[in-house]
Order: sequence, then C-alpha cells, then structure tokens
Amino acid sequence: MSHHQPIPETVEPCRQYSWVSEADTAAFAQRLARAPQLLDAVIELHGDLGAGKTTLARYLLRALGVGGRIKRPTFALVEPYQTPAGAPIFHFDFYRFGDPREWVDAGLRDLYAGPGLKLAEWPEQAEGVLPAPDLAIHIRVDADEHRSVTVQAHTARGRALLRTL
Ligand SMILES: Nc1ncnc2c1ncn2[C@@H]1O[C@H](COP(=O)(O)OP(=O)(O)OP(=O)(O)O)[C@@H](O)[C@H]1O
Ligand SMILES: [Mg+2]
Repeated sequence: MSHHQPIPETVEPCRQYSWVSEADTAAFAQRLARAPQLLDAVIELHGDLGAGKTTLARYLLRALGVGGRIKRPTFALVEPYQTPAGAPIFHFDFYRFGDPREWVDAGLRDLYAGPGLKLAEWPEQAEGVLPAPDLAIHIRVDADEHRSVTVQAHTARGRALLRTL
C-alpha cells in the first residue's frame, strides 16, 4: 500500500502592519482606497471592542470620497453609502446579529452578495452565514495603544488587493 505525502495546505498570503496612531490607520485606508479591485470587495474587520474597526471604516469611506455623517451601524446592522461616482458601499456591524433568519429576511444576504464594497465589523457574530471575505483585517491593541494589524487574503481579488498595500 502506497502512502502519499499529504498535500500541504495553501498558506493564505498575509501582511502585517503596526499603527502607532490614527494617522497610520488613515494612511492605510488611503492606500486601500486607491485599489480599483476594492469597489466590489468584501472586507472583514476583526478585533476586540475599541480595536479601531469603525475608525478604519470611516477613514476608508472618507478616502473614497464619502461625505456627511458616518454612523456606527450597530442597530441597523448595515449602513449604505455611495462614492461620488455612485459606487455602493455597505458598512455592516454584526455585533447584535442574533437571528440567522435576519440574514435572508432583512435582505442582508443579497446586499452582501451584490455589487459594492462590503465592510463587516464583528463577522464572527454571523459565522456560518457569511461567505469567505476577500480580505480579513485583524486589529489588535497593544499595551501602548499601538495597533498590530494583520491583513489576510482569501480570494484572488483579495490577493490582488494585498499586492497594492
Ligand atoms: N490607530 C489608532 N490609534 C489610536 N487610537 C485609535 C486608533 N484607531 C482607533 N482608535 C481609537 O479607538 C477608539 C475605538 O475605536 P473604534 O470605535 O473604531 O473601535 P471598534 O473596533 O469599531 O469598536 P467596536 O467593537 O465597539 O465597534 C476610538 O476612540 C478611536 O479614536
Ligand atoms: Mg465599531
């Protein structure tokens, strides 16, 4: 009986950053906003309460030219935006996501699968219903308020985005 070598698991490409202040979050958002592949991407924002997920989403929306008030989507689960050119952006926050029926009934699944940039805070709260993102960004706060950030690509679009960062 022959034994085959196990096929090594594909290691998802990933990059790491260190953000000293919000200025670094803003600079990262500006680089990400320049990538044309961003406009239909799904990006998960992971990290504890206060890690800086909404802060990154806000800088990204600003970098994409979104004006006006940028709310935290906690109660609505999703806040829609548009770039000045009319490209849709959906900012999801699944912190209060409790009932998976909402996923289909509230139209969240269709929004998530449709055109536009999708940013998702607390995706772990909706684990099992969310499809794999293009990019997963993990933000960790260190003792000195510095942020350790890992950006992982899960799709071809995500890998293309990662190369622009
Ligand atoms: N890079 C950074 N450097 C220093 N402070 C930051 C940075 N990013 C965010 N902050 C600060 O951290 C605080 C919390 O940020 P934010 O609301 O973005 O967290 P969050 O991850 O969205 O939290 P939640 O899970 O509650 O939604 C804010 O006061 C913000 O100014
Ligand atoms: Mg938030």
